[in-house]
Amino acid sequence: MNAQSSNVKVSNAQSSNVPSDAPYMKAQRTEGGALLLDGKAVAARVRAQVAQRAASFAERHGRRPGLAVIQVGEDPASSVYVRNKRKASFEAGIESFAHDLPAASSEGQILALVHALNHDERVDGILVQLPLPKGVNADRVMDAVDPAKDVDGFHPANTGLLAQKRPRLRPCTPFGVIRLAQEYGIGLTGLRATVVGASNIVGRPMALELLLARATVTVCHTGTRDLRAEVERAEVLVAAVGKAGFIPGEWVRPGTAVFDVGINRTSDGRLVGDVEFAAAAARAAWITPVPGGLGPMTIAMLLSNTVDAAYLRAGTAA
Ligand code: GUN
Repeated sequence: MNAQSSNVKVSNAQSSNVPSDAPYMKAQRTEGGALLLDGKAVAARVRAQVAQRAASFAERHGRRPGLAVIQVGEDPASSVYVRNKRKASFEAGIESFAHDLPAASSEGQILALVHALNHDERVDGILVQLPLPKGVNADRVMDAVDPAKDVDGFHPANTGLLAQKRPRLRPCTPFGVIRLAQEYGIGLTGLRATVVGASNIVGRPMALELLLARATVTVCHTGTRDLRAEVERAEVLVAAVGKAGFIPGEWVRPGTAVFDVGINRTSDGRLVGDVEFAAAAARAAWITPVPGGLGPMTIAMLLSNTVDAAYLRAGTAA
């Protein structure tokens, strides 16, 4: 059963960052029958809008919006993400400030850099790539970022604002899920949404975003007694576990919208999500691919947050 008989209604719900005259994305059908939520295509649309807003900012303020990306050490996966973030910033007309620190850097050295960037007027966004080396307290580092420059949306002040339904800078991956749904006209109000994974980066802020979108939200974690039963009830499923094929496709309720945040490398070198794609696509109404789903959306929303931060700091409308 796919989109035709889905619980997931296509609606006219739009948010302030989606221009009200924007047409919905046209969806391609997967082999299984579900419609594909093409993160790469939506990310390109978001990035084009970011580039326009960045150019207007530069015209008005005599400088481009600025994003500082800090990487400590040389974790190979982090290096790929950081390179992609810096390249995407440049292409969107955002000034990129690269700070690569040695793996042996002390917490004090990292904090000193964050404090310097907090006071650097050219810098609108600060991103500290996680994970940080062992021995560095990541919470202390993230808490040191000026909330007005917290383009990851990880600072407790920004998490708190999202929890109180007055979002400011919003965590990029959950924000990307919401934007993807909006761009395909998928209304979330009233749907039973299940989030699998309760991390600070994805699962928890995802639950807050879905609540803000007026879904009825369940969060599953290692303490959940009957994961299968929770997944089977979901009309919207967000998987953010980080384990290849962790959710069998046969658990997916017919007609569900599936957002797979996992990006896992298999022993034979392929990239796969947390949900068994082929079996899930035979049941779902909508599904994100891996790669090409939330990965590109996360980067696009980071750029969007950076331009939002620039305008917010300048006190002018976007
Ligand atoms: N590491 C994995 N994902 C992320 C992210 O979204 N932001 C940061 N800063 N680090 C990460």
